[in-house]
Amino acid sequence: KRRSLLSLAALSIVAGCSSTLEKQPDPNFSNRLRIPPPAEPVIDADGAKRFSLDLRAGRSEFLPGRITENTWGVNGAYLGPTVRASRGDKVRMAVTNSLPETTTLHWHGMRLPARMDGGPHQMIEPGATWTPEWTVDQPAATSWFHPHLHEKTAMHVYRGLAGLFLIDDPDGPPLPDEYGVDDLPLIVQDKEIDDAGELETSGVDRGTFGLLGPTILVNGTYDPFVDVTTEAVRFRLLNASNARVYRIGFADGRAFEVIGGDAGLLERPVRVDRVKISPGERVEIVVRFSPGETVVMDSRGEPRKTANDIEEDDFQLLKIVAAAALKASPGLPATLSGPGPETPPAGARVRRFSLSGSEINGHDMDMTRIDEVVPAGATEIWEIDNTTYAHNFHIHEVAFRILEINGAPPPAYQAGPKDTVFLPKEAKARLLVRFGGFVDPLTPYMYHCHLLRHEDKGMMGQFVIVEPGTENLVPRTIRAGH
Ligand code: C2O
Ligand code: CU
Repeated sequence: KRRSLLSLAALSIVAGCSSTLEKQPDPNFSNRLRIPPPAEPVIDADGAKRFSLDLRAGRSEFLPGRITENTWGVNGAYLGPTVRASRGDKVRMAVTNSLPETTTLHWHGMRLPARMDGGPHQMIEPGATWTPEWTVDQPAATSWFHPHLHEKTAMHVYRGLAGLFLIDDPDGPPLPDEYGVDDLPLIVQDKEIDDAGELETSGVDRGTFGLLGPTILVNGTYDPFVDVTTEAVRFRLLNASNARVYRIGFADGRAFEVIGGDAGLLERPVRVDRVKISPGERVEIVVRFSPGETVVMDSRGEPRKTANDIEEDDFQLLKIVAAAALKASPGLPATLSGPGPETPPAGARVRRFSLSGSEINGHDMDMTRIDEVVPAGATEIWEIDNTTYAHNFHIHEVAFRILEINGAPPPAYQAGPKDTVFLPKEAKARLLVRFGGFVDPLTPYMYHCHLLRHEDKGMMGQFVIVEPGTENLVPRTIRAGH
């Protein structure tokens, strides 16, 4: 199979630079980082924010001067606008499928009734418009949206369907929050782009991890740079890759503060020099710059290399160019969020999930089978035991805390509220999970591996939330597409 020099060179990085392939040319960082435009809502008579999201195909220019056909986006050719709402807002969505195939749009990280969740059951046929609505009632967080059609999620996300959904809390602490200035989203994805500029898709649904591309796009920008004008900049990192795991930091080794994870702010800032982020996870960091300096954000694998690890590759992600004069930024508040570490209530129910090749507890996903029935408002302990190569575990509707990973507390920057946890080869995790109160015994939420090839292969289960005391009365078989 022919590959461009670019892919060959980049592949040598994937291969750990040990091969005889040419080394990756030094990146030029020649393209200005795209910032996803804010979605503009219409305000309805009742004050609800109404967003129109059109899922469509288009053409993109990733490599300079080369057109990539058939990329998918929301209100554009690739990725989507940034949707934003505050705690307490009512939102009303009109999601139109202008694509040639059925898809869904899932609000990853949002706490809402299962019928509004956009999972595999809420299918949108070509030409149809889906209109979920809900009231945002959860702490400030960087959430996102992407398709979730059973067996097709990997391809739909790879083609470009993904966007950010930022939740604001008017009572939150003061943080850099000028979107596009000192509050910058970074959607990190890997791609394989051929000579002609076309997206190579044949690897997406093959192999153990699906496609692991040699080319990184940030916000859909190839080889990007960004100018910053303030001393402190908040980056909202989203790993929207199909399977790649990154260990993000800076080429000069500088430390930075982590302020939040998937489901909201940490109790207080945590100083680190690398953060690991697997598919579906978000990490919010605040980095300080000196006037006139240039620094490269990169991903660096841990020195340890083990078979089947997918987290070992090195990439340069983004060049950050600080202006000669920077606007002063205040230091971060010492305390970011209210409740500190949570302890499991006595007698909390424990559920165990064993992950193998592409099964959970020995089952492939079945859209008609309810795997778990959870009473509304429950706090439970979920134990995830990964018996094979790397996976992660995402639960819809909830925020959880990682109590333990391999018997030890998680790194401090992962101790806050989360919805996705990375499980390296043969790792075990104990999670403290708080469920909400949207009762619907006939419409399930999902839990699954967020490595999209695994999810598509069936590494997913379904749970319903029911009125406490009715757990044994609800049907364990439902109609698909409900
Ligand atoms: Cu990001 Cu079930 O998904
Ligand atoms: Cu997996």
